[in-house]
Amino acid sequence: MGVIYFDHSATTPVNPEVAAEMYNFLTGDKFGNPSAIYRFGRMTREAIEAAREKIARAIGANPDHPGEIVFTSGGTESDNMAIHGSAYANNSRGNHIITSAVEHHAVLNTVKALGQQGFNITILPVDQHGLVNLKDLAEAITDQTILITIMHANNEVGTIMPIAEIGKLAKKRGIVFHVDAVQSFGKVPINVDELGVDLLTISGHKIYGPKGTGALYIRTGAGWRQSLMHGGAQERLRRAGTENVPGIVGLGKAVELAVDNMDEENKRLSRLRDKLIRELTTNFENVRLTGHPANRLPNHASFLFEDIEGEELLLRLDAHDIAASTGSACTAGSMEPSHVLLAMGVPPAEAYGSLRLTLGAGNTEEDVDRFLAVMGPIVENLRNCI
Ligand SMILES: Cc1ncc(COP(=O)(O)O)c(C=O)c1O
Repeated sequence: MGVIYFDHSATTPVNPEVAAEMYNFLTGDKFGNPSAIYRFGRMTREAIEAAREKIARAIGANPDHPGEIVFTSGGTESDNMAIHGSAYANNSRGNHIITSAVEHHAVLNTVKALGQQGFNITILPVDQHGLVNLKDLAEAITDQTILITIMHANNEVGTIMPIAEIGKLAKKRGIVFHVDAVQSFGKVPINVDELGVDLLTISGHKIYGPKGTGALYIRTGAGWRQSLMHGGAQERLRRAGTENVPGIVGLGKAVELAVDNMDEENKRLSRLRDKLIRELTTNFENVRLTGHPANRLPNHASFLFEDIEGEELLLRLDAHDIAASTGSACTAGSMEPSHVLLAMGVPPAEAYGSLRLTLGAGNTEEDVDRFLAVMGPIVENLRNCI
């Protein structure tokens, strides 16, 4: 019996097809600096542009505007770049930024940092399912609002936000709209025009691509400037530094595969997810689903177990060769209860009993059954230990 990996929202293994493409750029003659004008440079530059085009097509952006996709070191950098770049570019029009209380810290802490630099920030509350209320958002907008940054899908509870509606509101008021799509890309169809998104963050390692890779979509005319990195003229002056060619090639391949397999894989994973939710909430006492019951990621099941420490549960599961999580990888090991669960109104003492199961390519129904079989005795034992 192998190890069961139920933590695909934290990270995913690199798809062998992705690794094979990257390998071509790690060995042999495809090593040139993409800024070089001779053939070695041309080879890698063409590979970068091909990856850029794949990403543009995957999110419904215009592939004839290749400068709209900028390669970064991942979701965190893309979020920082989007928020800093648009806040400072639009500062002459106003200084108000709106976000939500359940954002990943890559967004929340960036917005808070801008708050310390003199920007006025509003952090919107969410309901018990983790959803932002559109009326709250409309009321928060002022004539000083220059940026709205709201995530597409929540990493801890899987809730999918009403991005198209928020996009309409932002457009009507002429406000730049950034969406962190790190968890949703490859699981929910994304079209930046239909969703009214001006800036979109994606990350490679959540979609079977390499770690340390990501991209930011920047709509032409959305008012973005100011590279976080100062140096050379790479990425059309938007991100200095010699490009991570193998990583970019790997990201492009991962994006292509994610979009190609999305519908079929979503059907398969949502069946497994629904089985986990059904069994855990009906056959176990005092267990409840967190996040939205319907508007949630197809691979995401998250729960609160009364009278159980999530970390204890993880260690017991680990002893049975099952890898899961209490929430986001970033808060693992921290004694702070999850800011997402607190924002959803979960009392701090209860927030410690969280379990997140995020399914992916390698998971089967046998994995789900094996997990459910070990959960009964683990839960009973932990509750008897109180
Ligand atoms: C919603 C969300 N945004 C941003 C990030 C950060 O992405 P990266 O790990 O690529 O920096 C994560 C990672 O878990 C995430 O879940």
